[in-house]
Amino acid sequence: MPDTGEQAWRFWVVPGNPADGFESPAMEMAAKTWTGEWWKFGGGGNTWNGITYDPEFDQLLVGTGNGSPWNQKIRSPQGGDNLFLCSIVALDADTGDYKWHYQTVPGETWDYNSNMDIVLADLKLSGRNIKALMHAPKNGFFYILNRENGELLSAEKISKTTWASHVDLKTGRPVEIAGARYEDGSEEVWPSPFGAHSWHAMSYNPNTGLVYIPTIKQSAVFTDGGVDIGGFESPHRSVAVGVAFGTADSLPDAGSSTLQAWDPIKHEQVWEQPLPPQWNPGTMTTKGNLVFEGRADGRFVAYHAETGEILWSQELGLGISAPPITYSVDGKQYVSLLVGWGGAGLISGSLSAQHGWKYKAHPRRLVTFALDGSYRLPEFLPPAFATPRDVEGFVIDEALAAEGLGIYSSRCFLCHGGGVVSGGMAPDLRESVIPMSHEAFKSVVVDGALLGNGMPRFRDLKDDGLIALHHYIRKCARDLNSCQ
Ligand code: HEC
Repeated sequence: MPDTGEQAWRFWVVPGNPADGFESPAMEMAAKTWTGEWWKFGGGGNTWNGITYDPEFDQLLVGTGNGSPWNQKIRSPQGGDNLFLCSIVALDADTGDYKWHYQTVPGETWDYNSNMDIVLADLKLSGRNIKALMHAPKNGFFYILNRENGELLSAEKISKTTWASHVDLKTGRPVEIAGARYEDGSEEVWPSPFGAHSWHAMSYNPNTGLVYIPTIKQSAVFTDGGVDIGGFESPHRSVAVGVAFGTADSLPDAGSSTLQAWDPIKHEQVWEQPLPPQWNPGTMTTKGNLVFEGRADGRFVAYHAETGEILWSQELGLGISAPPITYSVDGKQYVSLLVGWGGAGLISGSLSAQHGWKYKAHPRRLVTFALDGSYRLPEFLPPAFATPRDVEGFVIDEALAAEGLGIYSSRCFLCHGGGVVSGGMAPDLRESVIPMSHEAFKSVVVDGALLGNGMPRFRDLKDDGLIALHHYIRKCARDLNSCQ
């Protein structure tokens, strides 16, 4: 309660161990869709982004997360839908009681969460006036639901999507393609865990009837290879996905991106503009028929909402990760934008590094525009790129480098980037001198010398692990192509 700080209610998203009793009737229902001992891993489903209040039905619409670990064979070995992962769940706003749900990915196993934004609109569909919600989760489909009761009205692909052929509107379920669950070994699947659409907000313009969606076109190769399915243990306070996956830049069409205008009623793309790969921010559309969006390469652009024509743009000197907002003060209209480079897309390493937004090299800014604005931005610093250091005479031990890759992939790459190419979230270790001194490396990685600056410590890493990591780092510094 806002006045007392007391907790009014709590809704559990996934059930705990049934032996301990059920948290709620909704969890009793959900537990029937799980197998094995999922509670050991937590299950997943966290609601980290899309929560929308719907005043017309006094309900909360909650977009839920993927499974934990991602690989369903570990989490729920005999299958099952695993409610309420990857769902929109409608809750009574006053009591937190379950009203209805729609699950976009039953038995999810690719990190296709449904945390993306949930947009409310009055739509006319086949002659019916519908209180609708629109949702484009990671899985490549665009959904329209009747938000009064959760009825599925349409689900259409907005981008290349190969895990399912279509969604059966009668059952509401996706029709999966054989092999997509990497049940037969490795499988290349579209979209990647970055999604066809990630958390970067889409926007809906009732004037044009169009939705403006930042879209990522990328596949990933998933495999159980090297994963201990039966004996998997979830390490504490660390990301453990339980599947090997790669979004290597060498894959066809790796990581191209667009801004697309999607007609939700006609199920068609009306226009599309290329964006720099791969991580572009959310959109904002206005009554004056404009669409604003920042870009990974540091440009801020206004498009014509009906045609996609670029009407205005401005360089802002650093990659943009945040959506703009607009507001008026004393009758004057402003557009504000945070300029800064961050977020999960940076783990892809070289796709992000190509823009030159090196760790801590460029100032972050809040910029505000108005029609008669006259302020001049200070000179921008040029893009900066890492210079990998090849230590002359260093003999790379291939076996150690392979061991180092294993440690790097599970412990370091989320911040320092795939292939030891930093996307800008942390220093590029190929040019760092610290790994070259065993003592310095240990003091940073094991003892936590840079803890205060956001570099975690890994107290369980032993000397031989650090040596293996160093061999892997040197290998990538010498020849990027040989180290993936
Ligand atoms: C949660 C993100 C994160 C993870 C995971 C992470 N790092 Fe870092 N690391 C950072 C950040 C941020 C810095 C920069 C800190 C600063 O500004 O001083 C850093 C700095 C470093 C440095 C110092 C580089 C220099 O030249 O200043 C080394 C070496 C390093 N990390 C190695 C590792 C290794 C090895 C792993 C995996 C075992 C790892 N890091 C995992 C975020 C991370």
